[in-house]
Amino acid sequence: MARKTILIDCDPGQDDAVMLLLAFGARDELDILGITTVAGNVPLAKTQRNARIICELGGVTDIPVFAGCDRPMMRHLVTAEHVHGREGIDGTAIYDPTLPLQTQHAVDFIVDALMKAADDSITLVPTGPLTNIGMAIVREPRILPKIREIVLMGGAMREGGNTTPSAEFNIYVDPHAANIVFRCGRPIVVMPLDVTHQVITTGARVESFANIGNVTGNAVKAMMEFYNRFDEDKYGTDGGPLHDPCTIAYLLAPDLFSGKAVNVTVETQSELTMGATVTDFWRVTERGHNATWIHGVNADGFFDLLNQRIARLP
Ligand code: BDR
Ligand code: CA
Repeated sequence: MARKTILIDCDPGQDDAVMLLLAFGARDELDILGITTVAGNVPLAKTQRNARIICELGGVTDIPVFAGCDRPMMRHLVTAEHVHGREGIDGTAIYDPTLPLQTQHAVDFIVDALMKAADDSITLVPTGPLTNIGMAIVREPRILPKIREIVLMGGAMREGGNTTPSAEFNIYVDPHAANIVFRCGRPIVVMPLDVTHQVITTGARVESFANIGNVTGNAVKAMMEFYNRFDEDKYGTDGGPLHDPCTIAYLLAPDLFSGKAVNVTVETQSELTMGATVTDFWRVTERGHNATWIHGVNADGFFDLLNQRIARLP
């Protein structure tokens, strides 16, 4: 497979952390241009620090990390410490990392990196609220042809919302940015709750991370144990959904997933359904396809891939 050039935009978050580690374990297949961070699960000061902690955990010193927007475009920031803990990646060691934060703003970096790139060459991987990506598109629309595809975690249809009855967290936090992204005209692959709720970190799967026998595997186990407590209580399952790594897993092994071309429109007006991803799954409107909606996954295959790649890390 040809190496894909990607740009990751995230808000770590334990599941963002595992997403980063999966990408770090696949650098032979993924050229990671940079990691940009956004306010989401926790405020920006913590998401940028957490991304750098996870780089150090994964032994990565050569991928630049940037801080981006500290609040959504139009709405007040909503965070999720009740899920991820006060620091966002609770379960693993929290400290001041030595890996520096880049001084350039994340949105400027995204614009510069894309403007320098060839058409159709960069895959964006957003796993947090879409503020940075939406801002970059507004700021410099000439970046659009450079984007090969956007593989994002967000949205929900069959599963309903996890933040309000109709909205998933990433889209709910910045529905206006999500609206810009879904209307941008570039190919979009969506990992909604419909698929991520099939990727469950059961006790046996959590144990398997520790059985790898490396520092990273043990850290993933500890983060998952913290992260699972909330979702186990909420959904009554053994384990919780490992949302964000589905994006990178899709880039590495698309055959693990199945989906369908649909139209996705984001609700930005109604307080009741704010951030709902209105997904025309059965083509009941004339609205053109703007995304591939992933709804099926081989979960065992996903966890095999994840374990193999984490085994390559320190
Ligand atoms: C999404 O919200 C965040 O809490 C997770 O990191 C994930 O990106 C799931 O709804
Ligand atoms: Ca996230």
